[in-house]
Amino acid sequence: MLSDKEYMSHSLELNLFFLRIIKEHIIFAAPALPPKNLDLTNMLIEMKGRFEKLLDRTVDMSLGIVSPEVLASGELVTKFTLPAEEKTQSLTGIPIDMSITKKQLGSRGDNSPGNISPMVSKVSELNKEIIGLMNLALTDQENLLKDVLICKAFSYIYPLMLDHVIREGHFYVMMLSRLEKRDELDSVRKMIEEELNWNRIMHEHSEFIRGYLDPSEDELIQTADKFAVETEKLVAETETLPSQPANLPGVTRQSLNLVTNLRNFKLQGVAGILGCKIKSIIPPLLGDHVLREANHYLRLLKTL
Ligand SMILES: [Fe+2]
Ligand SMILES: [Fe+2]
Repeated sequence: MLSDKEYMSHSLELNLFFLRIIKEHIIFAAPALPPKNLDLTNMLIEMKGRFEKLLDRTVDMSLGIVSPEVLASGELVTKFTLPAEEKTQSLTGIPIDMSITKKQLGSRGDNSPGNISPMVSKVSELNKEIIGLMNLALTDQENLLKDVLICKAFSYIYPLMLDHVIREGHFYVMMLSRLEKRDELDSVRKMIEEELNWNRIMHEHSEFIRGYLDPSEDELIQTADKFAVETEKLVAETETLPSQPANLPGVTRQSLNLVTNLRNFKLQGVAGILGCKIKSIIPPLLGDHVLREANHYLRLLKTL
C-alpha cells in the first residue's frame, strides 16, 4: 500500500510526463488528417486544449513534490522542447500552449517541501478527471484507427503509429488506475512490465524513424534500421521474462545499453531536424517527444 506522500509524488510525476505526451499525440494526429476531416481535426485540437489545462494544473500542484531525479531526467522537458514547439506550431498551424513549457523550464530545481496532507484529495480529483478525458481521447483514436484499417478514413501517419499512441494511452490509464487503488507491485513484476512495454515502444520508434526519414538519408536510415533489428531481438528476450524472471538482470543491462545508444541517436535527430539539417517528415516536436520517452524509460531502468 502506497503512503500519501508516495501516492502524490508518483501520481504527479506520472501526470507531468504523460499529459505532455498525450497532448502531443493529438498535435501529431491532427495535421495528418486530410482536409475533408476538418470537423475531427477541430475536435482533436479542442481536446488537446483540455489536456493542456490538466498539464498546467499538474505543474502548479507539483512544485516541491516531484523528485530531483525526475526533474533532471529530461523526460518532462528538454532544451529542445520550447524551440520544437515554436517550430511545430509555425509549421502546422496547430496552436500550442508554450507558457506551460516556459513555466516548467523556469521552476526546475524548486523542490521546497510543502504541507502535503490537504493535497491528497486534489491529486485524486485530478487523476480521476484525467482518466475520464483519456477514455474519451482513446475512443476517438480507436475509432479513427478502425476506420483507417477498413479504408474508410485516411491519415498521413502510419496505422502502427496510431496503434502505438493508443497503447501508450492505455498504459497511462492502467498506471493511473493502479495508483488510485494505491496498489504497489513488487519490484520484479513492476520492472518486467515496464521493460516489456518500453522495449516494444523503443523498437517501434526505431521503425518509425526509419520510415519517416527521407529516402535520400541513406546513412541515418541504416542506423535506424540497425536499431530496429537490435531492439527487435531485445523485445524477444524481454518476452521470456514472465516465464524466466531470473533473466531480468541481464535483460535490464542490455536494455540500458541499447536504449542509451538509441537515446543518443534521437538526440542527434532532434537537433538535426530542428536545425533543418535532416530531410524527413518528422515534425520537430515528434523528435523531442521520442527523446523524452527514451529519457523516461532510462530513468526507470536506473531506479527500478
Ligand atoms: Fe508517444
Ligand atoms: Fe512512443
